[in-house]
Amino acid sequence: MAELEPRSRRGHRLLQVLLLPLLLHFFQGINFCAGGSAQQSRFRPRTLRSTAAVQRAALPILGDTLQLLNGKTMSSYQVDGRRKFGNVWKTSVLFKKAVIITGAAELAEAMKQESRPNATKAFFPPHHQRLFGTESLLMQSGPPHRKLRRLVQAAMIPKAVSSYLESINEGVSELLAKCKSQNGPFSMVEMLRTAVVTTMLKILFGRQASASEIESLIEDVSTWSDGLLSAPLTFLPWSNAARAMRARARVAKIIRGWLQSCGDGDGTLLSRLVYTEDEDGARLTEEEIVDNVFTLVFAATDTTASSLSSSFLALSRHPDLQQQLREVCSEEDVETVDRNLDAFLSEVLRTSPPAPFAMRLVEEDLEVSKVPVPAGWLMVYGFAGTMLCDAERYPQPEEFLWNRTFSDGQGQSLDEAAFGGGPRMCPGRFLAAQVAKTVLREVLGPSGFRWELEPRQDLSQRYTPGLFPVDGLKVVLKK
Ligand code: HEM
Repeated sequence: MAELEPRSRRGHRLLQVLLLPLLLHFFQGINFCAGGSAQQSRFRPRTLRSTAAVQRAALPILGDTLQLLNGKTMSSYQVDGRRKFGNVWKTSVLFKKAVIITGAAELAEAMKQESRPNATKAFFPPHHQRLFGTESLLMQSGPPHRKLRRLVQAAMIPKAVSSYLESINEGVSELLAKCKSQNGPFSMVEMLRTAVVTTMLKILFGRQASASEIESLIEDVSTWSDGLLSAPLTFLPWSNAARAMRARARVAKIIRGWLQSCGDGDGTLLSRLVYTEDEDGARLTEEEIVDNVFTLVFAATDTTASSLSSSFLALSRHPDLQQQLREVCSEEDVETVDRNLDAFLSEVLRTSPPAPFAMRLVEEDLEVSKVPVPAGWLMVYGFAGTMLCDAERYPQPEEFLWNRTFSDGQGQSLDEAAFGGGPRMCPGRFLAAQVAKTVLREVLGPSGFRWELEPRQDLSQRYTPGLFPVDGLKVVLKK
């Protein structure tokens, strides 16, 4: 099985991708995909609430870009900012004026306004547009995004997820077997990343993909995602970005081939993408399917692996809780196990959010918490700043309280805050929760395993881009 690249190297790549576009953007006038078409602000600059200290930045146009985008400070920047400036504050990010929004009520207010058809636009660097493809959900905005999203998310609603259980169980069994076959210390992070991408490919393609095809797909997907995390040098054939474009072309060719033979109702996510129709009888085009397969693999892998790696870390740090969950997973009925794992996973996602923020380019003037957000500005949703600090929604937010209770009144007990909200709320949340809970149930259940953390390793977590312990969470299994 192709092993994925060590985290530390990927961390350097992330730094490159963050810094290089900034410099290119600044010196050569390269614009981010949505930026060029942004309507000019009709607002005059106004003084916003609590802005004085933020505007202290020596380089006003750079503002807080480096703190917000640095894998080490992505969360702490939001937490510190909220303590200093309140729930909503003004700065600059990626050479644009920006408003950072934290707080459950404030995020809900912003997302409600985002629901207006043309209020905001997606905001990504241009080489991401090429690597994901223009038909990716991530790149689309406004009414075309809504239309596309209805078709794509139909493949990830709970009913669809239950039809992927066989692939999920197979992927999780392989993970357990591989962990148990290790004779010495190993990186749990690498194990989880490989297992999640393998499982996702099985869910997408089912039995169409042989073991060797899955192996080469994993390698190409890994090369492709390295391109996303590298400088946008697609014009240099040996650069990561150019290698990523070639890997993308190879995978796209395979997907196009499978589209011809993919049958209705064969239980794969691919077949749902192919055959689902909207209310007008329209289906996804071949281009839309290919671009969104890449989007789903990318959006699913690091986030789900990160939530699992943070779960292993939390279980290692709280042995009593681990024992309690082992008893639940060994003795209780399916519903009780599910409810307990929902509660645990909610607290893991709250304290270690895999996706700590999201950005929008504002197209129509908005107002959040009485703070104007003019067209042409960036609106940054501070998910981490909210989940780590909002004491109204999460009493004693600094504590790991795994049995906080959440309920949406329909029996849903997973807190969904880590999955965002509004028109771009994560459509993969049911699938992510199903995969994560299956791994936890099996590892903590009677045929699972126990582990110990290797001594002398750095357990602090960094975004690369998912949140992972710096040394890859090295563990050794207890025999
Ligand atoms: C624990 C795991 C996950 C977390 C924490 C997570 C989190 C998020 C968040 C916060 C967003 C919203 C970003 C925004 O507002 O721009 C998002 C969007 C998205 N997620 Fe997830 N995600 C996870 C797993 C998945 C999985 C498994 C899939 C697919 C199989 C997926 C597919 C997507 C897609 C396609 C979008 C873009 C939606 C759009 O722009 O309309 N995610 N995710």
